[in-house]
Amino acid sequence: MSKIFVDACLGKETAYTPVWMMRQAGRYLPEYMAVRAEAGNFLNLCHNPAKAAEVTIQPLDIVGVDAAILFSDILVIPDEMGMDLSFVKGEGPKFSDPLTSQEDLDRLIGGDEAASKLTYVFETIELLRKQLDERGDEIALIGFTGAPWTLATYMIEGQGTKTYNICKKMMYSNPELLHNILAKVTEVVKLYMEKQIEAGIDVVQIFDSWASAIEPGKYDEFSWKYMVEIADYLKSKYPNVPIIMFPKGVSAFIERGLVYGNFDVFGVDWGTPMAMAKEKLGDKYVLQGNMEPCRLYSKEETTKCVEAIQEIMGTKRHIFNLGHGILPDVPVENAIHFVSECKRVSAKK
Ligand code: CP3
Repeated sequence: MSKIFVDACLGKETAYTPVWMMRQAGRYLPEYMAVRAEAGNFLNLCHNPAKAAEVTIQPLDIVGVDAAILFSDILVIPDEMGMDLSFVKGEGPKFSDPLTSQEDLDRLIGGDEAASKLTYVFETIELLRKQLDERGDEIALIGFTGAPWTLATYMIEGQGTKTYNICKKMMYSNPELLHNILAKVTEVVKLYMEKQIEAGIDVVQIFDSWASAIEPGKYDEFSWKYMVEIADYLKSKYPNVPIIMFPKGVSAFIERGLVYGNFDVFGVDWGTPMAMAKEKLGDKYVLQGNMEPCRLYSKEETTKCVEAIQEIMGTKRHIFNLGHGILPDVPVENAIHFVSECKRVSAKK
């Protein structure tokens, strides 16, 4: 039996449109909070394969999604390259020593040496592969990475940012250094994702969460081309493993017809009209998305939006998802409602 989510990624007919949610394993689930408390903190949870596998599986049974996404974080990559990652309560991720120069970059571990240090991720995937196969319910396992640009924003700013002024100063005054950072991260990501595939993931998603920080005319140069390079590398070795690109906030880039590359699914964020994405990209790529995550606060608004997306997308070449991650204060029953509504409206009679 094939997996409905993988089939949909490859553009095959499915009995209904599969659905999952970005950030589906997380703080809105009391069961997640309990396991995180046992682990002590978020990073310990990422480093503990048994517990990371446990929280990966939780949304399958609780919410009813069609795919599991590996529980980890995009920032474990720069952490293993030698940057010291911590999560400060209430403040999010922090690197103690952000990159400011070529010398800083040269000190970081690169290539296979860095990718090979992420053993706890590969062990989590191996455990999940076994557990999912034992369940026998043909649920796909999604592995992921951050896009080099999104990773670089944290490596250069040292934390999340509203203005991106430090990395943009580098973009416009020392683009060579920024490209060197992006190239070094790209090399690690290629090998890291290859190892995730070898460990047992079914699908790859590349999150470019902070794509919107780059002006549309520069987006290809500083982000998209590196994502395409990663996709090309993986496709040349694993042509049957679907790749999902999720660049958040790039509707101008889409509208101008600038999207290209060898991948399968384009993740549409909630600020991009689905009809426009379908017109520009729908023939070439399967589309994923794109309910505004805050609609989850209202069941009525959720139903209206799911029906509207269904109306545009029909029952082919689409995967239901939110247009970005679910927020921690969403009631679990509303997430369950979203998932069941997606299945209801798309079920083939
Ligand atoms: O369910 C899933 O989606 C899988 C797990 C996952 C996490 N992070 C767990 C997490 C995934 C795919 C990510 C990716 C990630 N991490 C992204 C890209 C996706 C996106 O949402 O755009 C980014 C930008 C990060 C970096 C990151 N990690 C930030 C900014 C934060 C703090 C913000 C917050 O929500 O607290 C994290 C922490 C994080 N990653 C949490 C989880 C469940 C919250 C930690 C906790 O308190 O338990």
